[in-house]
Amino acid sequence: MDINTQVNLAGVVLQNPVMEASGTFGSGMEYSEFVDLNQLGAVVTKGVANVPWPGNPTPRVAEVRSGMLNAIGLQNPGVEVFCQRDLKFLEDYNKTKVVVNVCGKSEQDYLDVVERLADEKRVDMLEINISCPNVKEGGIAFGQDPKAVESITSKVKEVAKQPVIMKLSPNVTDIATMARAAEAGGADVISLINTLTGMKIDVERQTFVLANKTGGMSGPAVHPIAVRMVYQVAQAVNIPIIGMGGIETPEDAIEMILAGANAISVGTANFYNPTATIDIKNGIEDYMRRHNVADINDLVGAVH
Ligand SMILES: Cc1cc2nc3c(=O)[nH]c(=O)nc-3n(C[C@H](O)[C@H](O)[C@H](O)COP(=O)(O)O)c2cc1C
Repeated sequence: MDINTQVNLAGVVLQNPVMEASGTFGSGMEYSEFVDLNQLGAVVTKGVANVPWPGNPTPRVAEVRSGMLNAIGLQNPGVEVFCQRDLKFLEDYNKTKVVVNVCGKSEQDYLDVVERLADEKRVDMLEINISCPNVKEGGIAFGQDPKAVESITSKVKEVAKQPVIMKLSPNVTDIATMARAAEAGGADVISLINTLTGMKIDVERQTFVLANKTGGMSGPAVHPIAVRMVYQVAQAVNIPIIGMGGIETPEDAIEMILAGANAISVGTANFYNPTATIDIKNGIEDYMRRHNVADINDLVGAVH
């Protein structure tokens, strides 16, 4: 049976709906020994800022039941090194799309990165991270107030030459309001969820496990929350959605698509199964054959 797995995100056609979640796959290079990047719908890079960021003090990751906490603090080499080293590496993989995740401490930081990337031909889409709970300034400060979400979205759209994905935070009271604000600001696509703020205490040492005290919770435990939020956002907006949060099996990915996601990202699972993305891609195809689904797009939002 012939099946179509292509999905169209704001004019960018992905050969399949599977990408990996920012920050869990380096910039592609780091996983290229395990995964043929050309088989992915898109490679999503770690967050890139205008200048290098050192990240937070260690320890900055911890395992928790069915997931992990991280407080990396968006360590990255800055956009110049990123373009010369990481983007250049990705030039050889022309079947996959490249999504660059952008972070900033101020509005101008975001705009500087977006402007710098505007004429980089290897960049197919931008994902604006307004939802990182692990940096003191910027990040989530932009993602928890609908007025700020709309404002930063429209400013990014003014300078961006690639379609813009706004990445939403689950650390809000009403995710649908945030999604509508991003759409009103001109977002082309919405992605969610980023991590949920958590905390772990070492009871023997009676200290916080993470130097940052709090960290972002991700992994299988957050999956039902992510499915619920993707469903709510799909009811609230008309733009495409990239769903993520705890996806580790093909069934998890299908669940997210049935809830309303046009494409999906695999994050924490890459750490304990480096080929998770490919396993999920193959498993989606098996599912489609088993269920006589000719076009993946027919599953999007099919449960409502
Ligand atoms: C170690 C780590 C680093 C991350 N770094 C970023 C980042 O740089 N930018 C971003 O938008 N999200 C970042 N995230 C969030 C993920 O992209 C994803 O939204 C979240 O982990 C939920 O998916 P998962 O449960 O499949 O991991 C990071 C997550 C982890 C675990």
